[in-house]
Amino acid sequence: MAESMKGLHRTHRCAELSGANIGEKVTVMGWVQKNRNKGGLVFVDVRDRSGIIQVVFEEGKCDAELIERAASLRSEYVVAVVGTVEKRSGAVNGNISTGEIEVIPEQMRILSESETPPFPIEENSKTKEEVRLKYRYLDLRRPDLQRNLMMRSKIATLTRQFLADEGFLEIETPILGKTTPEGARDYLVPSRIHPGSFYGLPQSPQLYKQLLMCSGYDRYFQIAKCFRDEDLRADRQPEFTQIDMELSFVDVDDVIDVNERLLAKLFKEILDIEVELPLPRMTWQEAMDRYGSDKPDTRFGMELVDVTEAVKDSEFVVFKGAIENGGSVRGINAKGQGSMPRKKIDKLVSFAKDFGAKGLAYIAIQEDGTVKSSFTKFMTEEETQNLIQTMNGENGDLLLFAADKNKVVWDVLGNLRLELARQMELLDKNEYKFLWITEFPLLEWSEEQNRFTAMHHPFTMPMEEDLQYIDSDPGRVRAKAYDITLNGNEIGGGSIRIHQNEIQEKMFEVLGFTKEQAYSQFGFLLNAFKYGVPPHAGLAYGLDRMVMLMAKVDSIRDVMAFPKIKDASCPMTEAPSMADEKQLEELGLALAEEEAHS
Ligand code: AMO
Ligand code: AMP
Repeated sequence: MAESMKGLHRTHRCAELSGANIGEKVTVMGWVQKNRNKGGLVFVDVRDRSGIIQVVFEEGKCDAELIERAASLRSEYVVAVVGTVEKRSGAVNGNISTGEIEVIPEQMRILSESETPPFPIEENSKTKEEVRLKYRYLDLRRPDLQRNLMMRSKIATLTRQFLADEGFLEIETPILGKTTPEGARDYLVPSRIHPGSFYGLPQSPQLYKQLLMCSGYDRYFQIAKCFRDEDLRADRQPEFTQIDMELSFVDVDDVIDVNERLLAKLFKEILDIEVELPLPRMTWQEAMDRYGSDKPDTRFGMELVDVTEAVKDSEFVVFKGAIENGGSVRGINAKGQGSMPRKKIDKLVSFAKDFGAKGLAYIAIQEDGTVKSSFTKFMTEEETQNLIQTMNGENGDLLLFAADKNKVVWDVLGNLRLELARQMELLDKNEYKFLWITEFPLLEWSEEQNRFTAMHHPFTMPMEEDLQYIDSDPGRVRAKAYDITLNGNEIGGGSIRIHQNEIQEKMFEVLGFTKEQAYSQFGFLLNAFKYGVPPHAGLAYGLDRMVMLMAKVDSIRDVMAFPKIKDASCPMTEAPSMADEKQLEELGLALAEEEAHS
């Protein structure tokens, strides 16, 4: 039977104990990690979120009944131990911080018993993630997840401190609101009082934070929950957290400055890494040309090379056709990969096809200088040599080429570059390369909707010098938008906002909104702007992504307490679940026939 902890007070977390505590009487409480019974000598490892302490129940030092009870302990029992810290009599354990000491108990209480857990509570679990997520409360006991969540908490605390010191106010904005247009699908919440009406869960606090600027709060921040109904990936959850901020009376450099100092502080305090400031910046155009990505991983080179000029007169129809269609031919040089077996090259070709390539042309330069290639037979020797030279190809290199519309070529080679870097083990998780991407296009053409859509959001300010093209050539207009990227991940993004109503109305017009539509969706913002609005700008980080990279893990699920799986469900709570008839009735909702019977 479980005992009470009445009269006991925990004095230390397990791994807070050290050689400095030798001789002290302490009380620790935690879970039994393991229990080794050597007959009259029982070693019990007690674990809490700080780590493990060894408790030794030994004849001569403890009474027989206590030793017997220790022998009966099983994994994950919760115990309280009162005892004295001593230097280890046995071998020192270099693997744990308390490896030089042990606790000799005088008292132990079993505060709670445990069934055998469905998987062992240990670091680097081999258990399938679905099973771990079903028992997330047990999974969260594992030291790696505990470290990640403790790091996350520290990042949040440091952020709050830093931003408060910089004059930011922490202000909460509604979860039940009107939807915010960030480009993903909204989650809707039906209103009981207004049948047929819905709240939208915020995709970000964007509109509210702009209103706060109108209201004069001048520097706002919030660690904000955001909701986006989009396809999940390793770095995307339907519900995630932003470090969100907005500032008045600032331009791009002001936003970048305060954020660089925030990042430097976090990396110094959490990882003891000195981030050199200012961080590098690159325009969107340069990032696409050099890396085929708007979030380039600059931990390695393998940059894209535009070879359109070098191949434009060749007879190879694939290249010729792409160029004639207004596209380009670009390549990457995988150094030292020239002897890659054909089968592996074929895998790269199908990888490229997954990203929309029609094919992938290659030249494998052998160590003796001869070439194996899928297409040089269509070119003269001179053209081939010229192409190799343009690519800086040397003996032993593998050159890969994509020919298509720019967008496809960038996407294919940008992703291929990353895939090759993974294969060639060029990615070091201990290296951190930040990069600001600036001057994004304001708009992008949506084939699906047959209109321009905002690349960032409709409140982003166009670059003043490009405003002249907004009617004649909207695709050419660049935005005062910036993303902060880290090792090939977009960890944050923001922009200078439009604060002149005429430009905002123009923007809606370009996006294909009528004035009525714009007012019905965003009237409150447009109206607010009529009453004196300061120039303002902001940025939001994906906190989960930031912690993922700092904790050196591959998925944001490993830095969130209760994440969802790929189909946006939670294996533990089984959310989402069906609503009962009465709830639906109260909300004035009825299920369509199909769902009702499925
Ligand atoms: P944006 O849409 O770029 O900008 O979002 C900001 C950052 O949030 C993170 N993020 C996500 N993280 C996990 N799961 C998701 N589904 C997800 N979606 C986005 C990314 C991204 O960089 N209101 C603007 C910011 C502003 O302009 O101030 C916004 O939300 O790391
Ligand atoms: P084909 O003439 O279709 O056999 O193609 C010859 C080579 O060109 C093959 O290696 C194809 O994979 C490659 N290829 C085909 N389309 C493209 C393209 N759009 N870009 C680059 N290479 C391509």
